[in-house]
Parts: sequence; C-alpha cells; structure tokens
Amino acid sequence: MNHFEYRDNTMFCEDVPVSAVAESVGTPFYLYSKETLSHHFKVIDQAFADIPHITCFATKACSNIAILSLFKSLGGGADIVSGGELFRALKAGVEPQKIVYSGVGKSAEELRYALESGILMFNVESSQELQKLQEIAQSLNIKAPVALRVNPDVDPKTHAYISTGLAKNKFGVPIEEAEKIYQDANSLSHIEVVGVSCHIGSQLTTVSPFIESLQRVIAFMDRLKESGLQVKYLDMGGGLGIQYDEEEPPHPEEYASAIKKVLAGHGYTLIIEPGRVIVGNAGILVTKVLYTKSGNKNFIIVDAGMNDLTRPSLYGAYHAIKPVEEKEGQQHQEADVVGPICETGDFLAKDRSLPVCDQDDLLAVMSSGAYGFTMSSNYNSRPRVAEVLVDGNEFHLIRKRETKDDLIAGESIPACIPS
Ligand code: LLP
Repeated sequence: MNHFEYRDNTMFCEDVPVSAVAESVGTPFYLYSKETLSHHFKVIDQAFADIPHITCFATKACSNIAILSLFKSLGGGADIVSGGELFRALKAGVEPQKIVYSGVGKSAEELRYALESGILMFNVESSQELQKLQEIAQSLNIKAPVALRVNPDVDPKTHAYISTGLAKNKFGVPIEEAEKIYQDANSLSHIEVVGVSCHIGSQLTTVSPFIESLQRVIAFMDRLKESGLQVKYLDMGGGLGIQYDEEEPPHPEEYASAIKKVLAGHGYTLIIEPGRVIVGNAGILVTKVLYTKSGNKNFIIVDAGMNDLTRPSLYGAYHAIKPVEEKEGQQHQEADVVGPICETGDFLAKDRSLPVCDQDDLLAVMSSGAYGFTMSSNYNSRPRVAEVLVDGNEFHLIRKRETKDDLIAGESIPACIPS
C-alpha cells in the first residue's frame, strides 16, 4: 500500500502532483509520503501490539532526521550501526532507551559515544569487541548492556550481498561458540548481559528462514537459561522484504503471527529492526530525461545516476520506472535508462519496456525509499539530491540539494602545492 497514484494521467504523491515538487526543487530528488511511512510503521508495530516489543527502525534504510522523528512520534526506536547514525537518532529525538547498536566494526570512539548516550543495548559481534566495550565501560564507570549477535547459519534465500545469517558471512558469532562468550561476558565487571540478537539478511520474501533462525535462537536461549543466564531481550533484526517487481513477500501480519507462535510462553521482550518494509515503497526518486538516443539500442539518458540510486548497479536490483505524466496513446519501446556517470554500470533500468520519452519528461523510479538516498554518494562530483516529504496537500524540503561548495567543504590546498 502506498500513496503514489495517477489522477487524470498525472502522478500524485498523496494530494501533491509530483511535477509541482519538481518545479519547486528541481531534479533529481527523493520524494516520500508521510502517510505511507506512518501507515507502514503502524502496520508492523501493531502486528506485535499484544506482546512486549520495541520497533527499532533500521536507520541505515532512510536516515533523514525528519523521517526518524516521524517514527519516534509513533513510538519507535532506532537500530543504528555507527556513531553517525546515533547522532542522527538523538537529533531526531529518539529515546536512548529505544536504541540498539549493531555492526561488526564499532570503533572505540563510537562505543564510548553510545555508552555515554545511555543506549538500550549493544549487539556485540565478537569477543574482542566485548573486551573493548568492557574496557571503555570501566573507564566511564558504567555498565554496558549487551546482547551477543549470534549467527544461526540459516539461508535467507536473498541476494548474496545482503545475506548475513550464513556461517560464511562476517556477522555475529557461531551459535556453538556463543555460550562460552556469554559466560565470559557475565563474568566481566562492567558488562551486563541483557539479550540475544540476530539478523539473517534483507529483502526476505518468505517467513520460513525467520522462523528457522528464531527456533535456533530460542533453543540457544533455553540452554543459556539452564546454565543460569536469564536475558530479557530477543532481537530478531529486520529483513522483511517488499514488492519491487513480482515478489510476493509475506504481509507483516503473517510474519508477526508466525513469530509470535514460536515466542509464546518464553517471556522475552521482542525487538525488531525493520527498515525496508517501512520505507521502501514510501519513497520515489524523480528524475528528468536529458536526452534520448537510438542506435543498436534505445537509451534514455536521465539526470539521476548510480551515485544517486546505486541499487540497480550494485545488486542488479529492479525498480519500476513510471512516467510522471502519462500521455494518451503513447507508444512503448524497449530501452535502457542510464545516468550521466562515466561508467557502463551506471543504469537505473536495462531492456525495459517504457513509454517513448521526450526531453524534459519526468520519470519516477519507484520503491526507492529504502537504501536510496542513504547509499548515495558524490561520485563524479555530483551534489547529493534534495529530499522532500509530502503531507496531504503540502510538501516540505527535508534536505536541501547540496551545492558545489558542499562538494569541496573540508578540502584545502596545502602551501606545498605551487599556485
Ligand atoms: N538490522 C540489521 C542488523 C541490519 O544489518 C539490517 C540491514 C537491518 C536491521 C534492516 O534490514 P531491512 O529490514 O531493511 O531488510 N543496501 C541493501 C540492504 C542492506 C541491508 C543491510 N542490513 C539494499 O539496498 O538492498
């Protein structure tokens, strides 16, 4: 469900014509629907309403502080993976006691910042990280709340780059080794063991890998309990997929009820870290046709490139592309939609049947709300694009387009270079 639809052949986001936003902020830009964002957050959060839980939005999916603060206003917390994301979450007003910190490579500085901020839980991914956390917590004279991220060795059946729960992936510690690390952790003076966490991958389109890993994690937690270690939180991570093309991912209700069935009677507080399922279909990237050319192939050259939306180039990901204005009786043709970047891998779509485009036509790259803007870069010295949030019949610029000066901010020419 989303709020991007045609009215009289014109694409609207809620009650705002997409073309009106383009006129105001220029192209390219990311456009988000507040109503879709809120609806998606509520659907997944309420699916767990009958059990103790915290919905910690995966900040990396879409980290604009306006969007984080929207989820905060709906009762959400944040899953973070860096000091930068912690900074954003705090700026957005997210309560520290609803922030969980994942990631294999947290630096000492980041650990200190998170400890000083009083976050709910560190999802620790190695014995060395645990040791480092103990040292820093000791120096601050506070106790670090810890969950160990276990790797359940379950195949999430998704793209290799976004699969994390297999034994060969770098994430977490093998479940067989985890018990020993828990016992070690429990004996450390400035560590408090509070949970177990796992995250097996992203864009999962079936429930079974979640359930398989949950069963393994619960069996492990039972063993911990028998050995005298009772924890409060079970963090399931994120990973629920969305429809980009023809996938048929489970509805959040289905996902939740399968999880709740396995969890029943265990008494843990559940933490979920959904990202894509909340924001993916709540955002689009709007781009303008610069030129078209036909030779051996048809090319539609647009003003957004792989630096603005990297998913097609990096993962071969499919994003539907739709005209912002539908023209009556328009012819279709097969074309590649490509950007201005000097790389052959710079494309948004390949061999796609699309309406024949004219110069200056606007195109919407659908389902770009997750891992769109957050993975964008300045490659080819392209300023990062604007982000806009629609609310009913109003729209708000929530991030300005970068300027040329932004591109060189922080750079300097040292005196040793002759002028
Ligand atoms: N929790 C942890 C520990 C994660 O590593 C991730 C995503 C999430 C939660 C959120 O997963 P989600 O609900 O969004 O599937 N750039 C890739 C996706 C990378 C996902 C990384 N981890 C893409 O564009 O598909």
